[in-house]
Amino acid sequence: MKNIKAIIFDAYGTLFDVNSAAENCKDKIGDKWEVFSNYWRTTQLEYTWLRSLMKKHKDFWQITEDSLDKSMKNFRINPSMKNELLDLYKKLSTFSEVKEVLTDLKKKGYKLAILSNGTPSLLNELIKNNNLEKIFDDLFSIEKVGIYKPDSKVYDMPIQKYGIKKNEVLFLSANTWDVSGGGNYGYNSVWVNRNNNTFDNLDYLLKNEVKSLKGVLEIVK
Ligand code: LAC
Repeated sequence: MKNIKAIIFDAYGTLFDVNSAAENCKDKIGDKWEVFSNYWRTTQLEYTWLRSLMKKHKDFWQITEDSLDKSMKNFRINPSMKNELLDLYKKLSTFSEVKEVLTDLKKKGYKLAILSNGTPSLLNELIKNNNLEKIFDDLFSIEKVGIYKPDSKVYDMPIQKYGIKKNEVLFLSANTWDVSGGGNYGYNSVWVNRNNNTFDNLDYLLKNEVKSLKGVLEIVK
């Protein structure tokens, strides 16, 4: 792909491993840690969509806490673990290849940005904890437009800021609905399909799929 002017990344699940918080507590949570973690993530995302539809916005940190409360009750996890899980969620680690690929893309001169549901302070903390401070030109947070993905106002932020065309953006997300959201908006959407999952039926015909961020280096060649 030759016309790419900016490479934009989703944060949670794409750069940062959302399961790493519960995984760090697997000794205390037991074997159910992964099902619990997936339930927490699904509930968190449902709350973003539902709050957008109800026009009752709460920021991503509050939603993360609200969805954790429900998930802990559902899985009968000791309430004393709540703060530990929330602290770990602020320090999620990146997937193993992320830093190397981002550094490589930066060296090649691409404009790199994050476009995420996360609040500016959550995103800054994740960047700092993973030593990625020098990589990104911008961290676009939905807090600026007050509505969650996949509202088009979210995908519009980088286009407005950079004054580029929608199809000059390469957008990467591991979240199928976000790939469809960005793709329906007009981005070149790429699905980071780490776990051999199934794509959504949301009117977006998938054109690019990679197994990890390393695949992006091939796409921009
Ligand atoms: C984000 C969620 C969708 O970072 O993963 O926006």
